[in-house]
Amino acid sequence: MSSDAPSPEAALLDPERLPRHVAIIMDGNGRWAKKRLLNRVKGHEKGADSVRAVVKACREVGVPYLTLYAFSTENWQRPRMEVDALMTLLKKFLQTEAEELLTNNIRLDTIGETGRLPEDVRQSLARVVAQTRGNDGLHLILALSYGSRDEIVHAVRDIAAEAAAGRLSPSTVDEALLSAKLFTRDIPDPDLLIRTSGELRLSNFLLWQLAYAEFHFTPTLWPDFGREEFFRILADYQRRDRRFGRVDPEPAS
Ligand code: FPP
Repeated sequence: MSSDAPSPEAALLDPERLPRHVAIIMDGNGRWAKKRLLNRVKGHEKGADSVRAVVKACREVGVPYLTLYAFSTENWQRPRMEVDALMTLLKKFLQTEAEELLTNNIRLDTIGETGRLPEDVRQSLARVVAQTRGNDGLHLILALSYGSRDEIVHAVRDIAAEAAAGRLSPSTVDEALLSAKLFTRDIPDPDLLIRTSGELRLSNFLLWQLAYAEFHFTPTLWPDFGREEFFRILADYQRRDRRFGRVDPEPAS
């Protein structure tokens, strides 16, 4: 997260119309490595540099929330060696970036079944989350061992248990209540979803929360993704007309 010169692309953005929350499916690390005849882990390592670049870009223009899909519940099924390498990379990232997060007023949080992560990673995460809790700059959320359907099932189970215990009536269950039971309960819904590597799917990411988000799919592989492309995507977002199912008012005749 070293300092670069201010970007001309960033200067073109309207600060009043930035997305409040950007969510990113960081995809294509493996293909990036394969193209270079490297081990997939090298792709993840290079992908960590893109994480640093995008975090810095959000700070530069003032995007307040950034959620990164770093490890899905399905990713546990990858070869043991790759899972271990990803966990090591995450721990290293937390060690090397903790100071930067503090200095730059960044708050770190996680969503997902983090109880499934190795003990040392959990400890590192808990430490950095606690250290940065008071920060009110960029809110960086890492989705780790995250699966959206699983998250929704847990929320529904919670609500059903409360109803069965007589603490709430089924007729009072509404969208706000369900949202309040999700990992993202204190986080606004994303306004913009970006997925890299040319894949056009959500892969069990924030299915409920993305209901009204704008989607942007780019063929760029995650390790090649950087702040110039990020700013171009924000500019594209600012040209979109978000109506949330409503129609624009008729011009006065
Ligand atoms: C998807 O690419 C990427 C992941 C499963 C892991 C994302 C992890 C990082 C970017 C590493 C660093 C992250 C942090 C937070 C330090 P893929 O492996 O599915 O790529 P492929 O589809 O080309 O095989």
